[in-house]
Amino acid sequence: MTNKIFCLKVPKQHGERVRSALIKLKIFDQSHKIAHQDQFLLIPLVERPSPAVLAELKIPFEIVEAEVEPTVPAKERKPRNLTEALEDKLTPFELAIIPVSYDIVGDIAIIEIPEGLMHAQNLIAKAVFDVHPQIRVVAKKVGAVGGEFRVREAQVIAGETRTTTIHKEYGCRFKVDINKVYFSPRLATEHKRVASQVRPGETIVDMFAGIGPFSILIAKSMPIEKIYAIDKNPVAVEFLKENIKLNKVEGKVIPFLGDTKKIIETKLKNQADRVIMNLPHTAFEFLDSAISALKPVGGIIHYYEIGSEEQHDIFERAIERITSSAKKAGREIEILHKRIVRPYAPYEYQIAVDALLNSYIDINTK
Ligand SMILES: C[S@@+](CC[C@H](N)C(=O)[O-])C[C@H]1O[C@@H](n2cnc3c(N)ncnc32)[C@H](O)[C@@H]1O
Repeated sequence: MTNKIFCLKVPKQHGERVRSALIKLKIFDQSHKIAHQDQFLLIPLVERPSPAVLAELKIPFEIVEAEVEPTVPAKERKPRNLTEALEDKLTPFELAIIPVSYDIVGDIAIIEIPEGLMHAQNLIAKAVFDVHPQIRVVAKKVGAVGGEFRVREAQVIAGETRTTTIHKEYGCRFKVDINKVYFSPRLATEHKRVASQVRPGETIVDMFAGIGPFSILIAKSMPIEKIYAIDKNPVAVEFLKENIKLNKVEGKVIPFLGDTKKIIETKLKNQADRVIMNLPHTAFEFLDSAISALKPVGGIIHYYEIGSEEQHDIFERAIERITSSAKKAGREIEILHKRIVRPYAPYEYQIAVDALLNSYIDINTK
């Protein structure tokens, strides 16, 4: 759609100077776009200016009537966030409690709807679609992440009725059912950080592999020997197998279904250069097992825990636990790196500690 309005036709090289001058003179029409015509610009005007005003421009010009496109009205622009999308639909109190962040897994948005906004969940879902045109499903969180498989239920509230999607992360594609397996897009940076430390030829044990975000990214980024990816959740292992094929890392990532302690004990002792232990609430219970998976010459453990702000040093307990298990196994230990991975709950954080465990200490020389 175009509108026929008065424009100032000026040579292109004077365009910016004239536009600024017209803004100062308050006759630049911001509701229409500047048009191009050969070597000239057609600058839209709010009215036909008087000769006195035009004299101030001091450049060659012509007044013409031309068809120009209107700029997009603010109302039709895509909202940048939920607050913008809902500002004329919710009360100020309601706007103050709408969630500021939510997870996007593939084309599914997973949002926590506060108790006081349940009545507005359809409006909120519509706002999510307006902010993210690529989203096809909006689901609301129901309950907390829990159980041995670390799964949280989500209920679809708008869009297509499905909970399965394909999530892309650093060039990998992960098929996932948000209701049946653990997966968090908030761990993407941590997956990448660990993957970037791996060296060619390594053997790795991913003790709590889920659908494979650590294992598959590593296998795709580096010519490793093998990654043994273990999980106890049968559905997660089915997705893991599908994702291995989807990302063409068959033969490099070896999936195992079962309890990680038993699988290491029976099949993977003394094999690994690196072990990943992403089960933050209870990883400490598996430290002896992780250490037994390392090669006798030593290796690196990526250990995760939930740390609280109330602790004097948020990393202290994790380091103590790794040190004590290493000592029990007769290994020396060096902490290579520690970091806060992400906020987990009020005053709580998921933390990561990378530890290098050296070869067995010769107790006769110590
Ligand atoms: C926090 S999730 C991590 C998944 C994955 N590493 C990631 O980054 O998305 C922990 C996983 O450990 C699995 N799990 C829990 N206990 C286990 C055990 N004893 N043996 C093997 N897997 C276990 C759960 O089923 C879950 O998939």
